Amino acid sequence: MVTAVLRRGPWSVQTPQGNDASGALSAPLLAESSALDLAFSLLMGNMGFVTQEFDLYAVREEHELLRESVRALVESKIAPFAAEVDHDARYPQEAHDALHAADMAAIHIPEEYGGAGADALATCIVIEEVARACVSSSLIPAVNKLGTMPVILAGSEELKRKYLPPVARGEAMFSYALSEPDAGSDAGGMTTRAVRDGDGWRLNGVKRWITNAGVSEYYTVMAVTEPGIGTKGISAFVVEKADEGVSFGAPERKLGIKGSPTREVYFDNVWIPGDRIIGEPGTGFKTAMRTLDHTRVTIAAQAVGVAQGALDYATSYVKERKQFGKPIAALQGVQFMLADMGMKLTAARQLTYAAAAKSERGDADLTYFGAAAKCFASDAAMEITTDAVQLLGGYGYTQDYPLERMMRDAKITQIYEGTNQVQRVVMARQLLKG
Ligand code: CAA
Repeated sequence: MVTAVLRRGPWSVQTPQGNDASGALSAPLLAESSALDLAFSLLMGNMGFVTQEFDLYAVREEHELLRESVRALVESKIAPFAAEVDHDARYPQEAHDALHAADMAAIHIPEEYGGAGADALATCIVIEEVARACVSSSLIPAVNKLGTMPVILAGSEELKRKYLPPVARGEAMFSYALSEPDAGSDAGGMTTRAVRDGDGWRLNGVKRWITNAGVSEYYTVMAVTEPGIGTKGISAFVVEKADEGVSFGAPERKLGIKGSPTREVYFDNVWIPGDRIIGEPGTGFKTAMRTLDHTRVTIAAQAVGVAQGALDYATSYVKERKQFGKPIAALQGVQFMLADMGMKLTAARQLTYAAAAKSERGDADLTYFGAAAKCFASDAAMEITTDAVQLLGGYGYTQDYPLERMMRDAKITQIYEGTNQVQRVVMARQLLKG
């Protein structure tokens, strides 16, 4: 069972005398040794703290086992349909079914709400491996995380008990509705309005660019509950597809991720019960931003995945393709390109996994790392997929090979969950406030 290796709980840690399970040193031991001596001893392994395995910067075995499982699933059940899904711009039902059957469509949902309780890195590995073959399909686990995070981070216990288990069981999906036709990067400029009505709220407005709209049963919707006070007047709500007055626009005709439906969502006098508010009134914008801190890391994982898919394909191709009497892999110009692609991908993955660990721990610098990982990995993915097309020459430019699709799909990772210009604003603000 794949999820057996994912469940949260104490990781296997060494607990020699003098430190506890978290690795913290006990007070008497600290008193005996100067910080420098202690650091030196730790480095030299003299105190028995250092095991044979030096696992700093290494992905744990359980995560690598998960990767193997996801890769096998993707190769048999998702990759064979990726080109067709893109060509026909149709929902990847095969991926949907396979991910749900394997408990991987919303693997992040905590165990107490019926989920597999995968940590943030495990969730990234699932998204990365799916994106390696089909970016459209990777939006199933990614958007389920995006839609549910506001509830997980700020929802009441009742809200969590009502809405997380159906997603964990695969009976429903959850989308996130922040952007509007005139409020994209300036998310705080939204005009969708929620007005108190009896013991609930009356919702009116339009959300745009909503991933999996129409497919998802549930939506986190940000709306203005108190106009005139900016982002402090925004609240978040759970809205159901079945709520009277909810409807959807036609699917957008996009450059890439053609298998993932992107539609407008209309709210026409939709009445929402009072207990569907996520957190207190006026906290919706902060909840939306806190959510993106976590989920920008999943977009970074998606970018790493598509870049890996492109690099793998191009690497095999250059070993087979012969010109001037030898495989083009023997040409130093080609080798330099491969090396640059690999170097950028390695850096992107390291930053993404570090950010995922910060997401899991809830570190104070997650805002910076989430933006940095998303920005760096998506820029790297655009460069790597473009170079992969180049390595295939004319063939790379045709739909007979997967690379033009990967290049088109990579582009969106520089745009959604905040453009890379917004990510730089976020990073700069974090640097300047320090
Ligand atoms: N965590 C907690 N609070 C935060 C926060 C964070 N990461 N970021 C901002 N806030 C708080 C601020 O502290 C501030 O609170 P106070 O008023 O109490 O000080 C409040 O929120 C307003 O913050 P700002 O003044 O920074 O807000 P701003 O209007 O200047 O906007 C922005 C900042 C970074 C540009 C933000 O609007 C933003 O991220 N824009 C991009 C939106 C985006 O990413 N959209 C993607 C849509 S989802 C999507 O793409 C899904 C999909 O399809 C897959």
